Amino acid sequence: MRVCDTIAGLREARRPLRGPLGFVPTMGALHEGHASLVRRARQECASVAVSIFVNPTQFGPHEDFARYPRTPDVDLRLLESLGVDVVIIPDADEMYPAGHVARVTMSGYPARGLEAAARPGHFNGVATVVAKLFAIVAAQRAYFGQKDAQQLAVVRRMVTDLDIDVEVVGCPTVREPDGLAMSSRNRYLSPDERRSATVLYRGLCRAREAWHDGERSPGALRRAIVGELLLERVVRPEYAAIVHPDTFRIYRGRVDGPALAAVAARVGTTRLIDNASLD
Ligand code: PAJ
Repeated sequence: MRVCDTIAGLREARRPLRGPLGFVPTMGALHEGHASLVRRARQECASVAVSIFVNPTQFGPHEDFARYPRTPDVDLRLLESLGVDVVIIPDADEMYPAGHVARVTMSGYPARGLEAAARPGHFNGVATVVAKLFAIVAAQRAYFGQKDAQQLAVVRRMVTDLDIDVEVVGCPTVREPDGLAMSSRNRYLSPDERRSATVLYRGLCRAREAWHDGERSPGALRRAIVGELLLERVVRPEYAAIVHPDTFRIYRGRVDGPALAAVAARVGTTRLIDNASLD
């Protein structure tokens, strides 16, 4: 496995690799969710590239950029064991050298509402770094988790709108045995908060049950989620919404198309998100 900390180094390491090349962008602090993307890329592609970069431009001024977990040595050992061919782990100056001014701006759906409303500028930061990584790695396929469903929709929209020649592959959410979606931020949780955090999944399950019983009112489906969240004292719901999985437009009347239930909540001070398809 070649590990590169510069863009030039990555380009050189990439050249002899057999195609198709699969690419998994990450911010590190890797867990089984990330590993599932790498395994899928390994199955479907002749070569696999991974990036580890905690991208400052997608964090708000009061968010957790400074304390975001960084575990590069453990991450690299995991990626090696998964048979990754090349890793790029650049520092911020390499990705954003002095004088840089170009940005990708997402000016409408799916980069509206929910995460976009809660985290202003977040998806412009994500779109910019993902576009740069796509240009650097030049992979044929890129693997993203359904866990961050709005991010996946934003990346698909950006690839379409900017005519980027990459196939975006969405992969299922990997969960802990008790249902909590794996996330690098789960390690912020105290043991009590960790127990309460499963309520996001339970809320989504309530919405799914209601859906299977024929419920098509977005208000009733939302209430099924929020009602569950409110059972946990340390959990403060931020949003629960029934949205179209591609556009992320919120259903207001009857749900009459493909639907995703999306939820965000604070568990203590830690902000967690999760979602479930209702089809
Ligand atoms: P990060 O949070 O490290 O996630 C990297 C990829 O792993 C994303 O595609 C995310 O959806 C996926 N992932 C995270 N948890 C998962 C889980 N439990 N099951 C399945 N997949 C999961 O998302 C980012 O980094 C950044 O925004 C990035 C795209 C790298 C741009 O900076």
